[in-house]
Amino acid sequence: MDSREFPVDAQRKDLLRFLTCGSVDDGKSTLIGRLLHDSKLIFEDQLSSLAADSKRHGTTGDDIDLALLVDGLEAEREQGITIDAAHRFFSTPRRSFIVADTPGHEQYTRNMATGASTADLAVLLIDARKGLLAQTRRHSLICSLLGIRHVVLAVNKVDLISYQSEIFVRIDDEYRAFAEQLGFSSIASIPVSARYGDNVTKVSGNTPWYRGPSLLDYLETTDVTGDAIQSPFRFPVQWVNRPHLDFRGYAGTLASGTINAGDPIVVANSGKVSKVKELLTAEGAQTSAQAGDAITITLADELDIARGDLLISPDSPPEVSDQFAAHVIWMSDQQLVPGRSYLARIGTRTTPVTITGIKYKIDVNTREHLAARTLGLNDIAFCNLSTDIPVAFDPYGQNRKTGSFIVIDRLTNHTLGAGMIAFGLRRAANVPWQATLIGKSERAAQKHQKPAIIWFTGLSGAGKSTIANIVERRLHAGGHHTMMLDGDNLRHGLSRDLGFTEADRVENIRRAGETAKLLVDAGLIVLCSFISPYRAERDMVRRLVSDGEFIEIFVDTPIDECARRDPKGLYAKAKAGKIKNFTGFDAPYEPPTTPEVHLQTIGQQPDQLADQIVKKLAALGIV
Ligand code: ADX
Repeated sequence: MDSREFPVDAQRKDLLRFLTCGSVDDGKSTLIGRLLHDSKLIFEDQLSSLAADSKRHGTTGDDIDLALLVDGLEAEREQGITIDAAHRFFSTPRRSFIVADTPGHEQYTRNMATGASTADLAVLLIDARKGLLAQTRRHSLICSLLGIRHVVLAVNKVDLISYQSEIFVRIDDEYRAFAEQLGFSSIASIPVSARYGDNVTKVSGNTPWYRGPSLLDYLETTDVTGDAIQSPFRFPVQWVNRPHLDFRGYAGTLASGTINAGDPIVVANSGKVSKVKELLTAEGAQTSAQAGDAITITLADELDIARGDLLISPDSPPEVSDQFAAHVIWMSDQQLVPGRSYLARIGTRTTPVTITGIKYKIDVNTREHLAARTLGLNDIAFCNLSTDIPVAFDPYGQNRKTGSFIVIDRLTNHTLGAGMIAFGLRRAANVPWQATLIGKSERAAQKHQKPAIIWFTGLSGAGKSTIANIVERRLHAGGHHTMMLDGDNLRHGLSRDLGFTEADRVENIRRAGETAKLLVDAGLIVLCSFISPYRAERDMVRRLVSDGEFIEIFVDTPIDECARRDPKGLYAKAKAGKIKNFTGFDAPYEPPTTPEVHLQTIGQQPDQLADQIVKKLAALGIV
């Protein structure tokens, strides 16, 4: 996930990245404001304007409203002046900090996951009056999945429970019992009052029963090492810098480990080996670099290395696979559908990916495993995935940089989800591709034709099958070898187990497409008629075959006309509410944007429409 740039000295000084989880009501903004304020991290001019603002807008009477400070920074951030969107940087004499501030509402799992993916520690805010909430459990689970091993429970508003120890102890006990299976290596509970400053930067006299450090003290001293720098060397190549023929450098940010000039390296996917010649930074050549450093590496040998490649140390190679099991956090309103093709970005490499199966969804409140066929916004699930090309990775538990990926929409480029790889699946590696002696071109040559898929898409009753039948009859009469795949018919056999949900239709078209591809390999001209309502799957079939082998025919009949014709009586049933998920009623149809042939059927005879297609096939050199 995102690696963010911060001043070099901030990276060099002992740095703690932490995440705050909780809602405004829990006092999160106030707590961060208090931390900054009491550790004298606010400039004087900011302070005096804050005092004035607090009188005007604040909710705290004459006291300074520290939440306003954070919200003020927020406004500044919105104008893009100081700090980047979700991270805040501050520094005390003992340590530097990067705080990822994430909103607490349920729908913000996405933001939280983004913040958590780079944090070493999480501060979970709890309102002492309310105790553990579903939100606390959800945040803890996400933190644990995202590899955070250290948790601070900030039990806030202890002033409002009259500084009683019993309530604090009960919350602490309850949390430890809950968190037992989450794999945290440290949990510290601290009673605080963000509003009055108790135990925030100084230990408070109001809680004599509490023997631990203040929150700031804890954050300054807690040991979270054992992380990126100690892991094996991993360098995802971000770009190849080749200003002239005599220089070729590989630029990027060191994901983990350390590297020295002269060290041997391996290119993970190809297995090619070389040695580091130079390590270049903005400050010139260095003898060594470590995790987090932005560097350019030059090698002793000229190797074929491109953006997306991973340079590694020979002693501890990562795994390479095109099938994985991974936790996926879904962050989009658009549902995740197994079988649909997305893009995955792992490190700097981008590859097409499909979720081949959802093993189970996780109830974030109870941690129960639930069956699921699709995933919606904020769902977390354990899935099997398959990428188009083999990818070098480490399990997320060992390396958060090389074990994580994001899922991207192919059409909009939006981030849809994030994933944490648990392990690679061996089965793909054990199934090699068998070379055949006779290939597509030999089979097609014997039939004296150019194989292709002629794909008819449109609403039910649009006339797809009628027109496809006429086209096939003509091709057949002309001596061509053809095959017909029809939606209705496939659903009596190969797709007998499928219905009409989005997930089932995606799977139906995947099977139809794979079958059509096999028939193209057999040298045939394959006519396919499927509603195929989703652009993504039609494009997926297009990518299964070579350029020019997929001809998309949009049979464009308006829904009112389809309903008037109603050849199968299905529109009447859909209107009467007897069929669910009927295309055009309560299921979508996404018309093609650039079909090879766009047939407007109203006022045209099927024979004329078939003519148009045959002409186009002739123009394309297929018949
Ligand atoms: S697709 O959406 O997965 O491409 P496909 O073309 O295989 O659909 O099957 C569509 C045919 O199934 C329709 O022509 C119609 O005869 C029938 N059918 C039954 N129920 C539905 C429904 N809910 N939506 C669309 N078609 C349906």
